[in-house]
Amino acid sequence: MKKIITKNENETKKLGERLAKGFGNGETVAFEGDLGAGKTTLIKGIAKGFGIQRNITSPTFVLMKVYDTDSHGLRTDGHGSRITRLVHVDAYRIGDGQELIDIGIGEYLDDEKTVVVIEWAEKVREILPSDTVWIKMKHGRKENERVIMIDK
Ligand SMILES: Nc1ncnc2c1ncn2[C@@H]1O[C@H](COP(=O)(O)OP(=O)(O)OP(=O)(O)O)[C@@H](O)[C@H]1O
Ligand SMILES: [Mg+2]
Repeated sequence: MKKIITKNENETKKLGERLAKGFGNGETVAFEGDLGAGKTTLIKGIAKGFGIQRNITSPTFVLMKVYDTDSHGLRTDGHGSRITRLVHVDAYRIGDGQELIDIGIGEYLDDEKTVVVIEWAEKVREILPSDTVWIKMKHGRKENERVIMIDK
């Protein structure tokens, strides 16, 4: 378990960028943490790390958004194969994992070229791969501090 404390929003984004470089093919990353803990902020950084130019907003109502990673072939995992897609799920309004299956997450969870990141992942725990990376986030002592625990 790795524990990191960030002091502001920008540090959390930078952490996301660094984490993205370490994600392997087909990785699923599950985020747990209260409202405003910084899950979307960290995912914005991850998206930047993948070279995604588009502005990332939380898919609270659409539940799932699919982004292509950069088109220059820069994004590779440690073994040189490309990750071509980032799928961002917000399970806040989802009742259980079956609902996510119903909107088609299975295709992405199984895809080697796709990294799936899921906010409020504890709600859909039962359908996530056993090697899912869990990231817990919480407010720190100071207003803009966040504590980020990475279970890897
Ligand atoms: N160190 C920090 N890291 C991340 N966000 C921070 C930090 N300090 C302050 N913030 C602020 O906290 C808020 C985090 O919001 P964010 O949408 O990322 O949270 P969330 O966990 O995705 O919430 P939700 O459960 O509503 O989806 C932002 O307004 C951001 O500016
Ligand atoms: Mg969010």
